[in-house]
Amino acid sequence: MNEMSFGEVVQKRRAYRSLEKVEITEEQVKELAETAQQAPSCYNNQPWNFVFVRKKEKLEEMYEVMSSTNEWTRNSSMIVAVFSKKDDDCVVKDREYHQFDTGLGTAFLVLKATEMGLVAHPIAGFDEGETKKVLDIPDDYQVITLVIVGKHSEEIKDELTEHQAKTEKERPERNTLDEFVHLDDFGRTENF
Ligand SMILES: Cc1cc2nc3c(=O)[nH]c(=O)nc-3n(C[C@H](O)[C@H](O)[C@H](O)COP(=O)(O)O)c2cc1C
Repeated sequence: MNEMSFGEVVQKRRAYRSLEKVEITEEQVKELAETAQQAPSCYNNQPWNFVFVRKKEKLEEMYEVMSSTNEWTRNSSMIVAVFSKKDDDCVVKDREYHQFDTGLGTAFLVLKATEMGLVAHPIAGFDEGETKKVLDIPDDYQVITLVIVGKHSEEIKDELTEHQAKTEKERPERNTLDEFVHLDDFGRTENF
């Protein structure tokens, strides 16, 4: 697995929803944390926090905080709650950096998990208040995402909606480069 190039890791990463249970060791949790630790952040503030949930009983409680279209998360083996707060990072006029920096740390973690042969799928469809209760996270933090971790299953699981089942096979389409790449100023996007 460690022989994958960066490009291969990027290509391999997918937000799969068909998962099967796999054992995730404390050593793997440490490797994921050490990778996130190396992410850049404003003033090196490192605002990110992660709760790595692996215990069966706790996972069962976490499955209850999911929105109805995230039933597929029940087959996950670990859930990483990602949270931070505004006061722990730069605020430059109206630019608040804690979510951006925590996103960078999370991206590192997601790519490392991919290299380790795991699925690491961030979601927004969960109840934040309930998550804080289950995990004992203080109220002044914002839970930004839950990263759903597991082993990819080739079998399409029943919990997936029809649309979700379709996207298991094909990566959802991306915008073309000329829709988001600007050359020298905002107006120039041609030649891509
Ligand atoms: C912030 C964020 C929130 C997301 N929320 C959900 C979610 O609640 N449920 C879900 O099934 N997928 C969720 N996704 C996954 C996206 O739908 C997925 O990444 C996107 O469709 C692109 O597919 P790909 O990651 O396989 O390339 C989320 C992704 C991100 C980054």
